Amino acid sequence: MVNFGNILQYLAVQSSQNSLSGEEYNVTKMAATTYALPTLPYAYDALEPYVSGQIMELHHSKHHQAYVTNLNKALQSHIAAVASHDIAAQIALQPVIKFNGGGHINHALFWQNLVPASASEASPKAAPSLSVEIEKTWGSLDGFKKAFTAALLGIQGSGWGWLVKEGGAGLRIVSTKDQDPVAEVPIFGIDMWEHAYYLQYLNGKAAYIENIWNVINWKTAEERFLGTREDALKVLKASI
Ligand SMILES: [Fe+2]
Repeated sequence: MVNFGNILQYLAVQSSQNSLSGEEYNVTKMAATTYALPTLPYAYDALEPYVSGQIMELHHSKHHQAYVTNLNKALQSHIAAVASHDIAAQIALQPVIKFNGGGHINHALFWQNLVPASASEASPKAAPSLSVEIEKTWGSLDGFKKAFTAALLGIQGSGWGWLVKEGGAGLRIVSTKDQDPVAEVPIFGIDMWEHAYYLQYLNGKAAYIENIWNVINWKTAEERFLGTREDALKVLKASI
């Protein structure tokens, strides 16, 4: 779980350099960062047959776009509320920013977690260092997949499952509710909202999970494992 301060911290990664450096803080001159829907690094139908083109198109162009649109609106309103010293309005906007900001962060990370099954990146061999750590933690890749699948199936309602790296504590599997982003290094996450699978798998959550392993981008996972959280979030900076 992540609090509102973490969301602002995430979003500040890409706006801190150009809004406050070297200048006196002046809220009346501040402009909200405008986020844009990141381009998918593959075609909508490129993950078939494991994730249908119809799901990918709706998920990216409608669902993710809605998070981006609503985040931009809320950030604009938040600046106006700060400028007018309207604390009540600022408080009212916090859950809106948390939900839509989290939705933007999670989906931007998620698209990079996936790759067509025919690509070399879809093999765990593309993640040699991460594989060693996974085997150390769960005994084997299969042991990890079983534990991750159990965590995903245990999510009640809408949420995400993530493999994360936490400082010196190594790897962990965490699940988050709604669109809360993780506070650790997000190695990869699986969207367990119904919009991610229902059109193709109906209520077959387990089949969705079983199939999505075929399109995990292990090269991205390796890079995130070897990097910092800020490195992983550079994808957000690219979508301003
Ligand atoms: Fe989603």
